[in-house]
Amino acid sequence: MKQINLKTRPVGLPSKDTFEIKDVKLKGMQSGDVHIQLVYLSVDPYLRGRMNDTKSYIPPFKLNEPIVSTGIGKVVKSKSDDFLEGDFVIGSVPWQEEAILPGETLQKIDPAVAKLPAYLGIIGMTGLTAYFGLLDIGQPEPDETVVVSAGAGAVGSAVGQIAQIKGARVVGIAGSEEKIHYMVNELGFDVGINYKTKEFSHNLAKACPNGIDVYFENVGGKVSDAVWPLLNKFARIPVCGTISSYNKTAEEDMGPRVQSYLIKSSAKMQGFTVGDYADQFAEGKKQLVQWLEEGKLIHKETLVHGFDQTIPAFLSLFDGKNIGKIVVDVRGK
Ligand SMILES: NC(=O)c1ccc[n+]([C@@H]2O[C@H](COP(=O)([O-])OP(=O)(O)OC[C@H]3O[C@@H](n4cnc5c(N)ncnc54)[C@H](OP(=O)(O)O)[C@@H]3O)[C@@H](O)[C@H]2O)c1
Repeated sequence: MKQINLKTRPVGLPSKDTFEIKDVKLKGMQSGDVHIQLVYLSVDPYLRGRMNDTKSYIPPFKLNEPIVSTGIGKVVKSKSDDFLEGDFVIGSVPWQEEAILPGETLQKIDPAVAKLPAYLGIIGMTGLTAYFGLLDIGQPEPDETVVVSAGAGAVGSAVGQIAQIKGARVVGIAGSEEKIHYMVNELGFDVGINYKTKEFSHNLAKACPNGIDVYFENVGGKVSDAVWPLLNKFARIPVCGTISSYNKTAEEDMGPRVQSYLIKSSAKMQGFTVGDYADQFAEGKKQLVQWLEEGKLIHKETLVHGFDQTIPAFLSLFDGKNIGKIVVDVRGK
């Protein structure tokens, strides 16, 4: 069985050499354990932060130990009263083809409610991130302008759609014309702006003639520098992520300071992690599933096939190849 370990701590953008793929054997099962075959793995930008040996809201990965992320498995054998062979389960899983995990760390999921990859996206952590960050911190009102960066990605595509459900006008920012087309024509955003064009700042200002009431921050850096001068009085800024800085090696990306813009607009900027809302996950998931069933939310996954594609899939997050949630189909085609 193959396992992917962290071999070295990356400086800048990780590469294939950051990781080691090893052949390993499974340990024996204890009472309460569940043996799963990995079916889908989530690769996420925050995993980059866990590769650094720095203090954060979640401990760093250890060298020569497997990377861990959220995954979906099929139960092969169970020594837990809660799971039967053939059940699909979700939990925090090591990057390996099979795993033996304590049953208490897994939850059963129902493929009849939604397609399995959706449990890693729209009705999983990324959907919940969008839901709580936007509604609790962003608090969009009808007819307000909500701007979301990485708007065609997993979190961003959910943010824009939830903002629309709340009656807001939505402007999505993304890095390719294909993504602009997706945001406007498939997700129904009012406007999509490509930040990789020379006219980006001008186009953003034109797309927000009444200013910006909520900016859902996913990327930071130059993209967000274009947002600050457009903030309206009492704007709200949920700071979800700053992916443009995750591979920076020094303070090379300072941009205009945000503080003066916050003062001028009396805006409120608040960082969060989805874990802050753990005690409300059940309520959030119920609402997301309902919107999905009502056809108010759509979702797209970029599936890559094969366990050996896990590392390329993770690295592709930083060059923006994915539309919607990127998920590894571990078993291949
Ligand atoms: N706070 C939390 O609890 C929490 C939870 C989940 C995710 N997040 C954060 O939310 C953000 C989105 O995560 P996700 O899982 O939904 O990923 P995603 O948006 O599906 O994928 C990442 C996207 O970021 C964009 N990107 C990459 N490098 C960039 C750069 N230098 N400048 C601008 N855009 C860049 C790319 O899209 P383009 O083609 O548009 O460039 C890429 O497709 C990340 O910052 C992540 O860390 C936070």
